[in-house]
Amino acid sequence: MKLKQLEYHLSSIEPFKNPKILLEQYVTPAHIAACMLHHIQSENEDITGKMVADLGCGAGCLTIGSALLDAAQVYGFEIDTEALEVFQENVEEFEVPQIETVQCDVRNIPSRFDKFFDTVIMNPPFGTKHNAGIDMEFLEVGVRLSKNAVYSLHKTSTRNHVIKHAKTLGREVEVVAELKYNLPATYKFHKKKSVDIEVDLIKILV
Ligand SMILES: C[S@@+](CC[C@H](N)C(=O)[O-])C[C@H]1O[C@@H](n2cnc3c(N)ncnc32)[C@H](O)[C@@H]1O
Repeated sequence: MKLKQLEYHLSSIEPFKNPKILLEQYVTPAHIAACMLHHIQSENEDITGKMVADLGCGAGCLTIGSALLDAAQVYGFEIDTEALEVFQENVEEFEVPQIETVQCDVRNIPSRFDKFFDTVIMNPPFGTKHNAGIDMEFLEVGVRLSKNAVYSLHKTSTRNHVIKHAKTLGREVEVVAELKYNLPATYKFHKKKSVDIEVDLIKILV
């Protein structure tokens, strides 16, 4: 599927109905999600025919996008039941059969999923809401679950920290794309209509 076509499909995904700031519930914009998934498939062939996990799947754009790119199976892991309700509605709209969901804290995913997936993808909470370090915990879980590669979005301003943390896990980080993430106002305290955030798409080989 072409990039524009993927972006078109993902732009119709319904967002969180009642976004929760403490869980950092921001939808990945369709353009960013499409670029991320298209890059992972076209440059690395890490989605089509693969077992994929999406950590913190929210309303489902990365999970559904992976299914549209013909992943063998995609598991979305998410802590919030309300988010999973919207996720299910979105999955029904797209009629993508190869999707499973697991409601849990990503940090407690059971060990039966260790090395169960070829590819782990995520747009994790960045750890800015009284949950410092959660982005690194998500990465660690990604490395545990994957037998090939982990792809994740991180604020460019935290690049050195991400690289250092990966080193402590004995892993190298490759910055595979630099993207500008246009975040529309989601919460009441957002005064501007939208803000631009620079993000890295990183890859960790497992
Ligand atoms: C930045 S949003 C990304 C949502 C979705 N993947 C997307 O790309 O639009 C982060 C997601 O992680 C979920 N989340 C936050 N903490 C979590 C945890 N400890 N375990 C599982 N999911 C969590 C949030 O509820 C939210 O859906």
